[in-house]
Amino acid sequence: MSKEQDTSKLWGGRFSEATDAFVQRFTASVQFDQRMAAQDIKGSLAHAAMLCQVGVLDAAELEEIEQGLAQIQAEIDAGSFQWSIELEDVHMNIEARLTQLIGVTGKKLHTGRSRNDQVATDIRLYLRSGIDAIAAQLSRLQHGTIALAAQHTDTIMPGFTHLQTAQPVAFGHHLLAWNEMLQRDYGRLMDCRGRLNQSPLGAAALAGTTYPIDREHTASALGFDKPTENSLDSVSDRDFAIEFCSFAALLMTHLSRMSEELVLWTSSQFNFIELPDRFCTGSSIMPQKKNPDVPELVRGKVGRVNGHLISLLTLMKSQPLAYNKDNQEDKEPLFDTVDTVLDSIRAFADMIPAIRPQQEQMREAARRGFSTATDLADYLVGLGLPFRDAHEVVGQAVAHGVANDLDLAEMDLATLQGFCADIREDVFEVLTLEGSIAARDHLGGTAPAQVAAAARRAMALLEQR
Ligand code: ARG
Repeated sequence: MSKEQDTSKLWGGRFSEATDAFVQRFTASVQFDQRMAAQDIKGSLAHAAMLCQVGVLDAAELEEIEQGLAQIQAEIDAGSFQWSIELEDVHMNIEARLTQLIGVTGKKLHTGRSRNDQVATDIRLYLRSGIDAIAAQLSRLQHGTIALAAQHTDTIMPGFTHLQTAQPVAFGHHLLAWNEMLQRDYGRLMDCRGRLNQSPLGAAALAGTTYPIDREHTASALGFDKPTENSLDSVSDRDFAIEFCSFAALLMTHLSRMSEELVLWTSSQFNFIELPDRFCTGSSIMPQKKNPDVPELVRGKVGRVNGHLISLLTLMKSQPLAYNKDNQEDKEPLFDTVDTVLDSIRAFADMIPAIRPQQEQMREAARRGFSTATDLADYLVGLGLPFRDAHEVVGQAVAHGVANDLDLAEMDLATLQGFCADIREDVFEVLTLEGSIAARDHLGGTAPAQVAAAARRAMALLEQR
């Protein structure tokens, strides 16, 4: 290591030897935080405008800074900006270039500010725009899901518990169950956005600054609802990133459940739906294969998102106030979470409206699995049997059906009367699939009229966004 003073660094004043080359690389973040350049520039513009308004910068200086930053943004957009590891991070790369471009005024930009409140601001701005992009895709996915549900209010499929045929349900009802999960995810995302959207700018390094800054000014210029309350907390906590990752882990969990069902349903064993070829790939060895790669991949991506949540929780655990370099590690997990979630929802938003339900197959699967057994039990209760006795009687009828390969609706009246003498011809109305779903006619039930109303309510909620 050289013993000469390191003059290349913006903080080199108190140092008597250059940074070790490995340490320089090890401590740098510019390789990944350059993604926040646009946010960093917006934050600097707001900060400079505020400094001018309170009299720390004059109007000419502000204009120079604005022009310099505009040029830097243009260089970044054009791909000609020279990022340098020696300048450590996005903040110092931009500031150094500004000084190169406009001279001494560039050195005044950092007045009353620290990289600690700067990075806390940038990352909030970055995540906020990620959240807005995700919210738009999520709305698109929900729209497609609800619209498909509205077309299938009386398309019958088997409903499952334990992945065993349980009772018939409308396909639209199943889709609207997915929508409920997504609707709650949307709510969590908006809660996260609300708590995140406060401006830490002005907290400076940790204690605030001696300049007469106007934090309301920068907060509103950057679209924040208000400034944060406490300078130590402002530069320190990354709970908003953790909260976002926990939203993401839940959303991805939901997408993985939907994925799993799509994978099952496209198999030849189920054959409930067809996915258009553009969402599938083939096998290099088995010519007959059409694999549901998109849902499989989304299901697999839950792993990395869950991992990022744990990374950030662990990163924050036991950190003393205020800023610690540990927090530089918040970015890669957060960025990858934003990217992964955005791609996954986009894939789903494209795919769901393109699903082709195989209505005959679904219906046949519901018909085969004794899915109206509960309806027969309810019918017997109507005749005056206690439910437990009715359950027992229907159990015997099902056993007879299993032994003779007959569904309940395929048995003749005399056979059914062998299990309970009071059964009459009208029993066949409840043993049909249509009768079964139509009878569940209450809020949240699968009767076609209820499903249609639920789809309308869900669509109306979506339109309020
Ligand atoms: N690159 C740093 C980060 O991402 C910026 C803040 C550095 N602050 C400091 N006091 N070293 O967290």
